[in-house]
Amino acid sequence: MPPRTSVPSPVRRPLVVTGDGDLLDDLLRLAAAGGTEVELAPDPAAARTRWLPAPLVLVGVDQAQPCLRARLPHRPRLVLVGHSGQLDPGWQVAELIGAEHVATLPAAEPWLVDRFAEHGADGPVGPAARVVAVLGGRGGAGASILAGGLAVSAARARLRTLLVDADPLGGGLDLVLGWEQLEGLRWPALSDADGRVDAPALVRALPSRGDLVVLSWDRGDLLALPAPAMAATLDAARRGRDFVVVDLPRQLDDAAVTALQAADRAYVVVPAELRATAAAARVVAAAATHCTELAVIVRGPAPGRLRAAEVARALGLPLGGTLRPEPAIVRGLERGEAPAASGRGPLAALCQRIVAELTGVPSAGAA
Ligand SMILES: Nc1ncnc2c1ncn2[C@@H]1O[C@H](COP(=O)(O)OP(=O)(O)O)[C@@H](O)[C@H]1O
Ligand SMILES: [Mg+2]
Repeated sequence: MPPRTSVPSPVRRPLVVTGDGDLLDDLLRLAAAGGTEVELAPDPAAARTRWLPAPLVLVGVDQAQPCLRARLPHRPRLVLVGHSGQLDPGWQVAELIGAEHVATLPAAEPWLVDRFAEHGADGPVGPAARVVAVLGGRGGAGASILAGGLAVSAARARLRTLLVDADPLGGGLDLVLGWEQLEGLRWPALSDADGRVDAPALVRALPSRGDLVVLSWDRGDLLALPAPAMAATLDAARRGRDFVVVDLPRQLDDAAVTALQAADRAYVVVPAELRATAAAARVVAAAATHCTELAVIVRGPAPGRLRAAEVARALGLPLGGTLRPEPAIVRGLERGEAPAASGRGPLAALCQRIVAELTGVPSAGAA
């Protein structure tokens, strides 16, 4: 993957997903009446990267089934739109793709003009946050440590950072940071969120220190994470933060799929061992259908002298980096010290490079 020193931030205009020329003509006319331009995507593949960042998404009835098949995540402010007569049985598919409204033309024209005016005139929107996802090729691979290190490194570079724990079985990412005593909301209190999450409010409610905010599981009864809660959280974070790290479970549930689809890049952490590589192949196969920007991080030691490049080649992925074993991290964890907090060592160096590549913001080195 070529290093990117500065990444253009996505333009945040309403997104129209349709391959129907007549419908498109009508929607462009209505958007103009609402005083906004729109982003166009003829199909879900073209829509994918703009799906969650867009302030409003209109899906033409011709693309409803394709969007469903593509498993695009549920998101707020999603409207299914078509001409009268086309939309039968529109409500059923609308519910399946998570549309909040079904707009039938021409009756809904004034309503749509209002929506375009409301969401197109967002004014000068700041650049959306970069989202990076991390998952382990096998249990204990070091994914959560890398996720913590990335978040700590981003916050050290003065990026407003959100670390999201999406692994219900991971034991709580707040523990990785040594933050388990910190006051603030955890997932169980937020997980019925499905509408628009107010980004500043979300951030105020979560445990935080400086520029780093964490949305973690607690150690209470296990709950599943609803995909709409993840979508709403990432939607809010994209608007209110600079950098988002999501620690994913290896078994991808709907919330994890939502996060992967929202990610600008995902890393699979794989110990440099044959069996770990074999296990990782399955994780990679599942993840690759939801994220094209996938790379592998190989973690030592390599007891059989397996080389990082060989692991990456076996998985058919670019090598995103390597990690030497770092006993100091493990000792630090026991003392409640967050990974990469000193800014020194192989993990910190790797995390600083990744943050810089994704954001263009240079790293803050050792303290
Ligand atoms: N960079 C590292 N250096 C040394 N040990 C590590 C490193 N990363 C992880 N570990 C060890 O592996 C264990 C599991 O890491 P963790 O990040 O929780 O894995 P995962 O989230 O992939 O299950 C840690 O508790 C630690 O002992
Ligand atoms: Mg983990």
